Amino acid sequence: MGSLNLVPASVEDYRRLANKRLPQFLFDYLDGGSYAETTLKNNVADYQKLNLVQTVMRDVSSIDTSSSKLGAVSAMPISLAPIGMAGMFGRRGELQAKQAADAAGIPFTLSTVGICSLEEVAAISNIPFWFQLYMLKDRGAVQEMLQRARDVGVSTLLFTVDLAVLGARYRDKRNGMSGGINTLGKLRSGLDLLSKWSWIQEVGLRGKPHTFGNLANYVPNASRPDDFQAWITQQVDPSVTWKDIEWLRSIWSGQLIIKGVLNPTDAALAIKSGADGIVVSNHGGRQLDCVSSTINALPAIKDAIGDTGTLIVDGGIRSGQDVFKALAQGADHTLIGRPWVYALAAQGQKGVYDTLTAFRSELEISMALTGVTRIEQIDHSVIESK
Ligand SMILES: Cc1cc2nc3c(=O)[nH]c(=O)nc-3n(C[C@H](O)[C@H](O)[C@H](O)COP(=O)(O)O)c2cc1C
Repeated sequence: MGSLNLVPASVEDYRRLANKRLPQFLFDYLDGGSYAETTLKNNVADYQKLNLVQTVMRDVSSIDTSSSKLGAVSAMPISLAPIGMAGMFGRRGELQAKQAADAAGIPFTLSTVGICSLEEVAAISNIPFWFQLYMLKDRGAVQEMLQRARDVGVSTLLFTVDLAVLGARYRDKRNGMSGGINTLGKLRSGLDLLSKWSWIQEVGLRGKPHTFGNLANYVPNASRPDDFQAWITQQVDPSVTWKDIEWLRSIWSGQLIIKGVLNPTDAALAIKSGADGIVVSNHGGRQLDCVSSTINALPAIKDAIGDTGTLIVDGGIRSGQDVFKALAQGADHTLIGRPWVYALAAQGQKGVYDTLTAFRSELEISMALTGVTRIEQIDHSVIESK
């Protein structure tokens, strides 16, 4: 017998609701990956290949999911990953997500290409958040943005390095996001949009302005995300090397985390170049397809850097159990991307908060039934490969 489906219980449930609510081109932009989406699928599937080791008769009456690896105490080792244009998935989406993250006691990360600006997010509360930086050819703009980040109290910077060139996504091409649609295509896209009336009202009309808040000064005549996308495409700097970390270090004294590392050599170079940590990431399977899933890449990277830097992983994490598995494979902390945006699109701030509450409960239950009570106790012994 089928279930009533009255309340979303899993990330997949929120994903389905997001699919109903969002215009097709936006859902696909969020949900999709590059090319055949092999890495996107493997990011998720490879978590399923790890079993937990059930362990009984331990005193698990008091479970503590808090973690303090990154200086500040976090209620659990999870942060919201930076998502460009999050404000297109929910009204002023970055603000709703920040409020949910504050309530759940975990960090929110604002993307360089967020709809809301650093200042708008900072005005929500005085709880600090993280900022994600793309290196732009316009280094003056980079310097100014970092100054603004400092001014609003950001102390952790994620510097994303896996976007030297832009990966191509077939779904975006098919939906005309990369241009080239004919009149019939425009008509079909318009009809789809009209069928998403609640999104039009809530986000399309009440969620304006749809500018990239952090970049508005640099692209003065832009009023739609497309105008900014064009600017970003020509601003992405493919000449960046480890040498540029020195420059970044000279203008950023806070924590510096390099996001988008997927092999042990790069991981060691990142730490050597002066980073405090790395995010093992393949950009959620959106850049180079057919690279390793992040959970598979993790153990060798842990071996390479040991305890010399904070090790964060993202990609394919869809439950608190996956967070537990990531920690068991050597991660200190995790980021979740699509899960929070599906929830935002489906149910706004409440959806994001409920998702985080579910992740915490799943993490607690995984800990209790494998016989560990503190985050630091999670190691290889609690999992096995299938
Ligand atoms: C729609 C979308 C937009 C993203 N935008 C950014 C971004 O602006 N900056 C960045 O560093 N990563 C960006 N990412 C990658 C995420 O930060 C993260 O690495 C990835 O989503 C993790 O995989 P998951 O979605 O499976 O959790 C984006 C991902 C998605 C799905």
